[in-house]
Amino acid sequence: LSSEFKIIAIDGGAAVGKSSTSKGLAERLDLMHVDTGAHYRTITFALLATGASPEDDLQDTLAALDLKTHLDRRTARLCIDGRVPTEVEIRSPEVNASVSKFAAIPAVRQSLFEYQRNQANVGREEGFRGLIMEGRDIGSIIFPDAQHRFFLEADEATRAARRAKEGQTDSIADRDKMDKARKTAPLVCPEGAIRVDTGPRSLEEVIEHIINLIGTGNTSD
Ligand code: DC
Repeated sequence: LSSEFKIIAIDGGAAVGKSSTSKGLAERLDLMHVDTGAHYRTITFALLATGASPEDDLQDTLAALDLKTHLDRRTARLCIDGRVPTEVEIRSPEVNASVSKFAAIPAVRQSLFEYQRNQANVGREEGFRGLIMEGRDIGSIIFPDAQHRFFLEADEATRAARRAKEGQTDSIADRDKMDKARKTAPLVCPEGAIRVDTGPRSLEEVIEHIINLIGTGNTSD
């Protein structure tokens, strides 16, 4: 089935190397790239701009949001009400501090579910052979039927060093704790996904390792 649209799911906690790995893989394999962490950050940014807090009833505000996709080369970005917030805006200390709280709200996740599933159609329409989607619940909830599913992990020291290099000083351990503890779509290694330890490997080695696993076809149950 060479015409089949390929979906690669990359899950894992904060600072395990998901984004660099996913971007690198998308380049190497010529696929569309979708960062769902950026989706939650973009929604958080838009909600904070309306003055909303995670304690509010967000149903009406969420229903009124217009979600579209803006393709930036091979990266698909979430465009809310006609605007794609900048990287600086969605990675601000304010967004870092509240994104896990908004992401734990079922109505927030629900508002992105169809949008994220529909990225496969966007990718097809844009002429891609497949997509790489990174996040926390891609192989478990969004695309449990993806052809390839990976769960990236790294030891605490490696992750702290990576975050510090990016200039991000918020507690990633706290964010992970919240992401794992939430009731809706918690951060888990999906059953049947392949675990990849990024701690002892360079970025190039992680990408090479995953490409080899994809090549053997031994990447999902
Ligand atoms: O990958 P990131 O650090 O940019 O993600 C930001 C937050 O978004 C993270 O703390 C949890 C949430 N998230 C989620 O709940 N589900 C996803 N699929 C992706 C991210």
